[in-house]
Amino acid sequence: MTAQEEFISTVSHELRTPLTSIRGFSQTLLNSWDRIDDENKKKFIKIIEEQSNRLINLVENVLTVSKANAGNVVFTKVNVNSSIKKIVPLFEEQYKTHNFKLDLQSNLPFARLDEDKLQQIMTNLIDNGCKYSSEGSTLFISTESKVEKIIIKVKDQGVGIKEEDFDKLFKKFSRLENHLTSKTQGNGLGLYITKQIVEKMNGEITFSSKEGEGTEFVVTFPVYNEEEVMKCS
Ligand SMILES: Nc1ncnc2c1ncn2[C@@H]1O[C@H](COP(=O)(O)OP(=O)(O)OP(=O)(O)O)[C@@H](O)[C@H]1O
Ligand SMILES: [Mg+2]
Repeated sequence: MTAQEEFISTVSHELRTPLTSIRGFSQTLLNSWDRIDDENKKKFIKIIEEQSNRLINLVENVLTVSKANAGNVVFTKVNVNSSIKKIVPLFEEQYKTHNFKLDLQSNLPFARLDEDKLQQIMTNLIDNGCKYSSEGSTLFISTESKVEKIIIKVKDQGVGIKEEDFDKLFKKFSRLENHLTSKTQGNGLGLYITKQIVEKMNGEITFSSKEGEGTEFVVTFPVYNEEEVMKCS
């Protein structure tokens, strides 16, 4: 087993144990509520709480590892437009009722990036754009270049983000309150990890949002500079 396979297998096993116990005790409480005395109810709830804490710690550790993985950046000359064109069809398949509009600048300069990590960033942003917007709405994805920078924008027509929540958005495990968050799956890790990776690749991520109208994420990366590479060698 490679170190990574080993890690995944450990994590899966570690996840299963507390989850099974949380499910078991919840089911017992729900099915036999009237037959359990208060002292035992408290005992069972305590176990559920302890096991949940165990899960939280575990996920924290997993996160530390993925952060460390984000450290192995392999910079190459990346065609951002082709990379986006590869990934969007996967979402068209998953979110059949959403519309996807691409506006990709022709002759876009190459970016200096790790393409796998770019795919990870785009996946998180597009996934959020779809998850936190209604069926039938449109997701706009565009690219442009400006003074040695490549700019990628992902804009949705979704629920938007309250101004008071702006500073929580990139924090780990933060899921904000809106009517779609409770209906969708998530750990509140996507944007935290996204920001880490963007910054590892010398990029920047910003956003603007209006509650009820939608959100736009803007990611900026340096262009691939041939001269710089030549200077180094
Ligand atoms: N495009 C968006 N529009 C509205 N709210 C958003 C958008 N993107 C993120 N959010 C809010 O920010 C929170 C954090 O986003 P993030 O991607 O980090 O986590 P997640 O989507 O909940 O879970 P994960 O990405 O780990 O599966 C979300 O739970 C959601 O409340
Ligand atoms: Mg997400």
